[in-house]
Amino acid sequence: MAQVCVFDAYGTLFDVTSAARRAAEEPGRDALRAVAPQLAEHWRLKQLQYTWLRAIMDEYAPFWDITQDGLDWAMEKVGLADDAELRERLLALYWELAAYREVPMMLARLKAAGKTCAILSNGSKDMLDGAVDSAGIGEFLDAVLSVEDVSIFKPSSRVYDMVGAKFGCSREEVLFVSSNGWDIAGATGYGFQTIWVNRAGDPVDRLPHRPAHVLSDLTTIPDLA
Ligand code: LAC
Repeated sequence: MAQVCVFDAYGTLFDVTSAARRAAEEPGRDALRAVAPQLAEHWRLKQLQYTWLRAIMDEYAPFWDITQDGLDWAMEKVGLADDAELRERLLALYWELAAYREVPMMLARLKAAGKTCAILSNGSKDMLDGAVDSAGIGEFLDAVLSVEDVSIFKPSSRVYDMVGAKFGCSREEVLFVSSNGWDIAGATGYGFQTIWVNRAGDPVDRLPHRPAHVLSDLTTIPDLA
């Protein structure tokens, strides 16, 4: 049994593809509509790569800056580099990403069972506050922990250390949930109980440390906590 349930944010609670998808639904966005899935995928992959590379290079920058760098690369890649208005719109939408449908009910069940719930994310504090507010899930969260306080990104153990430092719990008392296979490998190796949320049916990452559980969405997490 876990007493503390900790969630990755982007891709796990919040749907990072929703920014490009929502922008593509707006009038006058024909050029985006043709490439929105590719743009979203490039944006996410570059954003993540830049976190890992900057961690190795000892060149920390806030996740908000890295998110913009990733978007700039992705927009150039799909031939939309000149659309400054679209860039601003996509960045604005990133502050109000949709939460996955099952998130509020799942968190409410955990809180009703007396669990401590938190986010542990690479995200900058302001970005996370924006996403939590727009999803209306702040009432279920005991803490929103940002790597901003340790200036390095997951899967550095210095980030996972923030959970014990905040709640005074042991590693085994923590259930860590992420849709990112590399994050789950890091957290499992660190000693957390882990659930990998594999919505896309992806192969498991060939990294040390496999997840304890694999789910296709977040609905049944309270049954495992
Ligand atoms: C986060 C990224 C990894 O929220 O999705 O930390």
